[in-house]
Amino acid sequence: MFRSTVLTALSVSAAVTFVAAVSSQTYTWKNVKIGGGGGFVPNIVFNPSQKGLAFARTDIGGAYKLNSDDSWTPLLDFADDARWDYWGTDAIATDPVDPNRLYLATGMYTNSWDPSNGNILISTDQGKTFTPSPLPFKVGGNMPGRGMGERLAVDPNSNNILYFGARSGHGLWKSTNFGATWTQVQNFPSVGTYVPDPTDTTGYNNDIQGLAWVTFDSTSASGKNGTATPRIFVGVANKGTDNIFVSNDAGSTWAAVAGQNNTFLPHKGVLSAAENSLYISYSDGSGPYDGTAGSVWKYNITAGTWKDVTPVSGSDLYFGFGGVAVDAQRPGTVMVAALNSWWPDGQIFRSVDGGTTWTALWAWGNYPTLYKYYTYDDTLAPWIGPDDTNTDAGTLQIGWMMEGLSIDPFDSNHWLYGTGETIYGGHDLLKWDTTTSRNITLKSLADGIEETSVQGLISPPTGPPLISAIGDVDGFVHNDLDTPPAVSFSNPSYSSSSDIDYAGNSPTTIVRVGTSTDGSQGKQVAISNDSGATWYESQDYGAADDVAGGKIAVSANGDTILWKTSGSGTLVSQYTNAFTAVASLPTTAVIASDKKNNSIFYGADGSTFYVSTDGAKTFSKAGTLGSSTSPFRVIVHPNVTGDIWVSTDKGLFHSTDTGATFAAISGVSQAWSIALGAPKTAGGYPAIFAAANIGGVGYFRSDDAGVNWVQINDAAHGFGSASANVLAADLRTYGRVYIGTNGRGIFYGDASGADPAPTATASSTTVAPTTTSTVKSTATPSTTSVVSTTISATSSAPSSTATGTAQLYGQCGGIGWTGPTVCASASCSSCLRDTD
Ligand SMILES: *[C@@H]1O[C@H](CO)[C@@H](O)[C@H](O)[C@H]1NC(C)=O
Ligand SMILES: *[C@@H]1O[C@H](CO)[C@@H](O)[C@H](O)[C@H]1NC(C)=O
Ligand SMILES: *[C@@H]1O[C@H](CO)[C@@H](O)[C@H](O)[C@H]1NC(C)=O
Ligand SMILES: *[C@@H]1O[C@H](CO)[C@@H](O)[C@H](O)[C@H]1NC(C)=O
Ligand SMILES: *[C@@H]1O[C@H](CO)[C@@H](O)[C@H](O)[C@H]1NC(C)=O
Ligand SMILES: *[C@@H]1O[C@H](CO)[C@@H](O)[C@H](O)[C@H]1NC(C)=O
Ligand SMILES: *[C@@H]1O[C@H](CO)[C@@H](O)[C@H](O)[C@H]1NC(C)=O
Repeated sequence: MFRSTVLTALSVSAAVTFVAAVSSQTYTWKNVKIGGGGGFVPNIVFNPSQKGLAFARTDIGGAYKLNSDDSWTPLLDFADDARWDYWGTDAIATDPVDPNRLYLATGMYTNSWDPSNGNILISTDQGKTFTPSPLPFKVGGNMPGRGMGERLAVDPNSNNILYFGARSGHGLWKSTNFGATWTQVQNFPSVGTYVPDPTDTTGYNNDIQGLAWVTFDSTSASGKNGTATPRIFVGVANKGTDNIFVSNDAGSTWAAVAGQNNTFLPHKGVLSAAENSLYISYSDGSGPYDGTAGSVWKYNITAGTWKDVTPVSGSDLYFGFGGVAVDAQRPGTVMVAALNSWWPDGQIFRSVDGGTTWTALWAWGNYPTLYKYYTYDDTLAPWIGPDDTNTDAGTLQIGWMMEGLSIDPFDSNHWLYGTGETIYGGHDLLKWDTTTSRNITLKSLADGIEETSVQGLISPPTGPPLISAIGDVDGFVHNDLDTPPAVSFSNPSYSSSSDIDYAGNSPTTIVRVGTSTDGSQGKQVAISNDSGATWYESQDYGAADDVAGGKIAVSANGDTILWKTSGSGTLVSQYTNAFTAVASLPTTAVIASDKKNNSIFYGADGSTFYVSTDGAKTFSKAGTLGSSTSPFRVIVHPNVTGDIWVSTDKGLFHSTDTGATFAAISGVSQAWSIALGAPKTAGGYPAIFAAANIGGVGYFRSDDAGVNWVQINDAAHGFGSASANVLAADLRTYGRVYIGTNGRGIFYGDASGADPAPTATASSTTVAPTTTSTVKSTATPSTTSVVSTTISATSSAPSSTATGTAQLYGQCGGIGWTGPTVCASASCSSCLRDTD
């Protein structure tokens, strides 16, 4: 069904159209190594029965399995455009009875930003493969309170039984068949009442947080193998009313635990089996960014008594508590993390006497000296620093958003905790307990975790192969794709960069945009003359305070910057002149610069293409992009003025006459990010790469300007939401493409399989320029249908019916998507990275 639309004149030529058959080519995909994670890791879960088995979950980049060399292997890279929300992992459960069994609760948002219900992903091979078990409600892996938990738990005596604590008022759910089917526990007393912000109308901060954690008391079974564990504790996000409940009859009946203090929200309930006690961390907010007060309590299960074991009090208590860990081998050894101590640094406490006394990871000396009882080690991600160790300097080493803290049940020296940016931990934890020279090594141990949200990528024709603009961690010059960069951008550093571009005739000239509208953070445009090694800020370049974000295009010679800001319209500046509004270009237009002619810029809005020949001062309407309503990208041939490609919600369009006319590429029904790379044969047309729908959503390359396409991704590499991703192609290495994802970092792919022979010829339909009169018309499909035998097909993708800008991290396109189609300019995972 097609909506009736007002179109500019559309005349489809009589050119014969063949079906473009799509074949596939094997590609080798690797992460561009940033190292250190780069985003929030809400929890790390060790299996209690198999030595060395552990998993980490992230909020936007899926789950990982720990390897014996401390590195991590991603488990959900198969998630494609249709299953993008698998990367929101709200809970993890590793089976204590059969360690091969692993369960993940997946789904990104419980509001409209994620149209799909959640799943329990079931693995019987430790995460190599999964079978989804659909839930009848949504799961919120990137919702507030995602660090509480775990919400999902396997009965340690009868591992066919699982419980899952749902959000949004859906209560407690139970499976008795290894997660295959689920039913609601009807008599569970509370679905939760806490919402972070009742005035929010988006469904994000005003959704019920619901059930926070489920903890079996393994000791209550007294060796009854195969019998359901009688005692189960459940923590609920309630404040001021009962928030910890217990069943003593394997879930038949439930009651509030007597004597509890419900002032704050219970984030974790961790069993110390040897002490027959439950340690509970509380915070006044559900996290992960908040918390200004909290407590830690110990519940003696045998006696039914509560003890306040909060490590600090008075003015030292300015945070809530998140992660809790017990040492399975040392009864009474327990650790707890301040959820967020933003200054001078995060804090972790350790007790070896069951919470009676505590020691901390740092203490104040004479201000501003900090005594740090650790040595900081970021060799695996040298950029992650700060590396100075003596004074506070206003920077954080220990971290923030510390909800996940774990001690290896088989090794008291091995511990790991998740932060808003990485996983820290080490292998000498027992040194903490040596009174004379307390000095553990605190190491970034997130090797293999690539969790960044990539906003922009360039692969210039000279200099480093890749330069990135990234949410939360600013961005990097990637001189070596397989080695973590030593530094991120600096002077200026931005909390997030939203885009980056290079000057076609002067490709060492790079421009990037930051996203902060806080004037104290400096101007948010930076320029480099040396391929990103050093930068200078553009206060001398006419940028104003409070102007930030969006997309950037720099002219071919590098003297003019066209800036589609996130909230201040589209602006232009030449040399050091102030940025001024570009009145003749709609503020919603996608922008680009010509790579050869310094005066020429481009814009695309709706079905109209715009061209400027006066350095973006004024734009004129040029050709028509079929029945497009939402252009996505404009990219330009690096060597040829006026050779332009435009991706839109209605396909892929090509102009060779500076935008006067466009041809619709046959067989492409929808396209998102596109990129031009080195040609297959010297002097040939550049290889074009597209995230597109060509009989199915995938990643494709054409070596003949869009006539034939090969699919280059495979069943193991889905790259998540296609519309959220950014592509760049290498201009020096034929076949190499970079895919920047929203949550799984940057991938690069090289052809490793045989190049398939062209299978068919196709011609394109020609769309006339807009110089003819405007007519009212019912839209027809802009492309012919495509027969494909090799695409691992997803269903066809209806175009979005809504408009507007998505929330941070919100979905902004995809199959079946009816929400906002404009991605938030700074979609990020951890946010709030302290600017150095
Ligand atoms: C119960 O017994 C079976 C068979 O002996 C064994 O495989 C399983 O690991 C036992 N489970 C527990 C929880 O001890
Ligand atoms: C409950 O906890 C709050 C916050 O820690 C504390 O102020 C209050 O005294 C506690 N109430 C009791 C009865 O322990
Ligand atoms: C729990 O309470 C019982 C009974 O008072 C006591 O014997 C036991 O030592 C307590 N456990 C802990 C860990 O304090
Ligand atoms: C702490 O240990 C590290 C590495 O083991 C060592 O380099 C450093 O000198 C030690 N610091 C102190 C204060 O002992
Ligand atoms: C970059 O080049 C411009 C123009 O040549 C010059 O004014 C500026 O000082 C250079 N900046 C740096 C950091 O080299
Ligand atoms: C750049 O384009 C403008 C506008 O079409 C044209 O007048 C000018 O000659 C071109 N410059 C070069 C160097 O080709
Ligand atoms: C651009 O031109 C240069 C020099 O002829 C050539 O080496 C390069 O491959 C061309 N780039 C593309 C993408 O066609």
